[in-house]
Amino acid sequence: MSRVESIVAPVRDSLERMRSVLEAHVRDSSRAVSDMTDHVGRFRGKQLRATLVLLAGDATGNSTDEHPTVAAIVEMIHLATLVHDDVLDGAKVRRRVACVNERWDNQTAVLLGDFLYARAFALSTDLSSRMASRVLAEATRRICVGEIDQAALRYDFEMPESTYERIAGAKTAELYAAACELGARYPGGREDLGRSLREYGHAIGLAFQIVDDCLDVVGKEEVVGKTVGNDVEDGKITLPVLRTYAISDAATRSRMRSVYTEPGLKNRLGALQAVVSLEAGVDYAFERARTLVEGAKARVRVLPPTPARDALIELGDFVLERNF
Ligand code: IPE
Ligand code: IPE
Ligand code: MG
Ligand code: MG
Ligand code: MG
Repeated sequence: MSRVESIVAPVRDSLERMRSVLEAHVRDSSRAVSDMTDHVGRFRGKQLRATLVLLAGDATGNSTDEHPTVAAIVEMIHLATLVHDDVLDGAKVRRRVACVNERWDNQTAVLLGDFLYARAFALSTDLSSRMASRVLAEATRRICVGEIDQAALRYDFEMPESTYERIAGAKTAELYAAACELGARYPGGREDLGRSLREYGHAIGLAFQIVDDCLDVVGKEEVVGKTVGNDVEDGKITLPVLRTYAISDAATRSRMRSVYTEPGLKNRLGALQAVVSLEAGVDYAFERARTLVEGAKARVRVLPPTPARDALIELGDFVLERNF
């Protein structure tokens, strides 16, 4: 059994239910919209956030009949953030197919993202508790702030690592945190468990983004399934690069800045690798991700031993090992 298969095994049935809800709710009677949602759904993602809702529910003895729907809403919001993110990043490939902004255009992609958000929040009003709407609206707000702050800090090689982590925390870890919190406490109450699973999710999500930022500089597009080198192309200064810059001499720093800013330069990632080795920066970033995952695992190890609890622990290892 692959790592992903073993992680989803404890919640296989509810994950199938989540997928049916997801498919039913991204459809639209408009031919143009369904062409786009079919395109986006052609290769499904890893569905880690939905899996986390379900695992956190099982591991805390909190699963309800509504958990698959909550998980589907989380996955729809994730999808909306990806469609918008690819516009912001000018990305070309996602999940092995052309991004919506590439296959259609930016305007259409913005509207498809909006459509997915609207569908997600409309579905959340069908739930018996308002808790999921509230938690996910707040997570969405923070994701937007994270993406906006990141755009404002492009080309800033001097930003403190804490700023990088604040942004990555907002744009990525918040949805992981919300997924885990909802799993543990939807439809309400159980604040302590919710808090502890939220902290697990936040640490896992931050580690996930750090690894993602490493994959952007060391991954292969055929394996990762999306455009690599895009952060370099687009002036996003990620942890491996921030660290490389911090430990480089003045001449190297100057060459690094030129690689990012010289107009019309082709293959900026290749050019960056030619002026400096990113290895130490990547190792450093991985070490930070490892520390975060260890902290996350410690938070769930105290739960009663169940297959779902063990899968939450294994998901931490997957985040560090993944190459896609
Ligand atoms: C990609 O997330 C966006 C980031 C936060 C880096 P995933 O890698 O979980 O995307 P899919 O859903 O599996 O494609
Ligand atoms: C994740 O950041 C953004 C979101 C949470 C939407 P990235 O821009 O690094 O994500 P990818 O690499 O495009 O998937
Ligand atoms: Mg992106
Ligand atoms: Mg981005
Ligand atoms: Mg990325």
